[in-house]
Amino acid sequence: MTEPKAIVSDLESFVAIAKQVIADTRDKKAIPGKLKPYLEQLIRHREWLDERFRQPNPDAFAVYTLHQEPDDSLLIMSAVFLPGQGTPVHDHAVWGLYGVMENQTEDTRYERIDDRSRPDYAELRVVDRRLVRQGEVMISYPPDQDIHRVVNTSDKPTLEIHVYGADLSKLRRRVYDPQTGRVKVIQARVPVN
Ligand SMILES: [Fe+2]
Repeated sequence: MTEPKAIVSDLESFVAIAKQVIADTRDKKAIPGKLKPYLEQLIRHREWLDERFRQPNPDAFAVYTLHQEPDDSLLIMSAVFLPGQGTPVHDHAVWGLYGVMENQTEDTRYERIDDRSRPDYAELRVVDRRLVRQGEVMISYPPDQDIHRVVNTSDKPTLEIHVYGADLSKLRRRVYDPQTGRVKVIQARVPVN
């Protein structure tokens, strides 16, 4: 599957295709790449996303659950980042992808360069930093393409659609401090310090 075979213009059609791709793909790492062209289509259309899922929170970036499969094989959320809001450095522990529906975000990707012998310590190196602009999609999958941080460095709110292969609150994920090497295990949909 190299080119999208279907037209996706609302959440329902995206969910149908995502479920099919998940069922058809044995190699989990390949799922976000296969879903990328469909998420690119979905974020070009904005009518389907209700206003109540676009509301910012002045205290911290806001997330809203848009769809969750009963077996937790698919979770779709919207996320709103006011200027200056962002995540700590974190991983996901499952495949995922997100697309920028409005404005842009700065995405910094890291690789782990220590020997993973200590559960509470990780040495990270920046491998990429880029502005992800409206209409663009970024993918991730464990273990080697899974650590990043996103920040809205612009002066306008940023709206994103996130897609994951699990309920993130049921996984053991990590938040990293790249300065000290400290690792914290979290069980939450939203990575926090
Ligand atoms: Fe993330």
